[in-house]
Amino acid sequence: MPLPIRVLLLSAALLLAACAGTEAPKSPPPSQLPPMPHPADNPPTAAKLALGKQLFADPRLSGSGRTACQSCHYREFGWADTKALSRRDDGNLNARHTPTLYNVGYQTAWYWDGRATTLDAQILAAWRAQTGADPAKATAIINAVPGYRSQFVAVWGGEATPETIVKTLAAFFRSFVSTDSPWDRHEAGQRNAVSQAAVEGQALFAGKGRCVACHAPPYYGNSTFFNIGLEHGKANPDPGRFNVTKNEADRGAFKTPTLRSVAISGPYFHDGSGITLKDAVRYMAGGGHPDPNKSAVLQPTGLTEAEIDKIVAFLESLTSTEPWQQPTLP
Ligand code: HEC
Ligand code: HEC
Repeated sequence: MPLPIRVLLLSAALLLAACAGTEAPKSPPPSQLPPMPHPADNPPTAAKLALGKQLFADPRLSGSGRTACQSCHYREFGWADTKALSRRDDGNLNARHTPTLYNVGYQTAWYWDGRATTLDAQILAAWRAQTGADPAKATAIINAVPGYRSQFVAVWGGEATPETIVKTLAAFFRSFVSTDSPWDRHEAGQRNAVSQAAVEGQALFAGKGRCVACHAPPYYGNSTFFNIGLEHGKANPDPGRFNVTKNEADRGAFKTPTLRSVAISGPYFHDGSGITLKDAVRYMAGGGHPDPNKSAVLQPTGLTEAEIDKIVAFLESLTSTEPWQQPTLP
């Protein structure tokens, strides 16, 4: 191609690009997640995230030396586990089901009852309670491993402290983002990204099912608390959010979980009582057990079994598939 024609084509292309640039900016698709808010004193760096991944997988952080964070928060199960209730490092059974850690960095209150008001405080509490650790002792064990010591010096400018271990884990958890699912690609205009059942399911989720009242995009659930009747009739009902606020209206209320990647994180609910995703959706569609404290927002929807299947198909289209490799421990 002669040079002048090439220049002409190039300028035409540049002109087109410039025109495209002056178009009114398109608003992002509704389900796209905003950038992760990182605290100014804890920016994510590649070296920090790699270190966080090792700490997350390392049982040497625990009291017994046998329990890692990932002993209950499994990547392949949406950072949750498959048991209704799991056993802590000290052998005691947890009172609540392990929640997903997906999109945990977007929350403003942590735990099912929201009793932790910062992610760092939550991680320190889990380190102690779930893995039975004395943070000072565990930190000494970490500092005795040359491969850890050198990484802490590189990332934090000194040997590990309980605080830098917590901060490293927090930065790592903020990287657990479930987005770019088939449904996100559908909303971004990609054809055939999801099934027709999923498209109809989303309409039911937003319409007849009134699920969006509490599970609104882009998170499909965030730090808001409702009583959906699950403690009704139990001998020792879990007070849930009431423990934190001491407000009677919050008795039996729990955090609304994100429904992103929900299809891989069963069983469901704070007590693990929903075995399959369809069970959980059917329970919600039925309006919940008739607890006197149940949220008035949750009402029977009249959704049919076929409609419930379509909502399940929609929720299945919210699963993201980012790569994951187990770290090698130093
Ligand atoms: C024995 C199982 C188990 C282990 C091990 C475990 N967790 Fe958890 N994790 C849970 C349970 C159960 C909850 C919910 C407890 C509650 O809400 O009362 C939870 C909640 C959390 C949450 C809050 C999520 C949310 O949505 O609010 C974070 C963050 C977390 N764990 C981090 C960790 C870290 C960090 C470690 C390792 C130091 C760890 N977990 C080890 C079972 C475990
Ligand atoms: C009143 C607010 C509200 C409405 C309306 C609502 N949900 Fe929920 N949803 C919640 C809360 C709160 C939880 C967790 C409660 C618990 O475990 O005690 C939950 C849990 C779930 C879970 C289990 C998620 C997990 O990880 O354990 C699924 C699935 C679900 N809802 C789907 C739906 C669907 C589908 C609809 C519509 C038919 C719906 N929800 C309507 C508040 C609501």
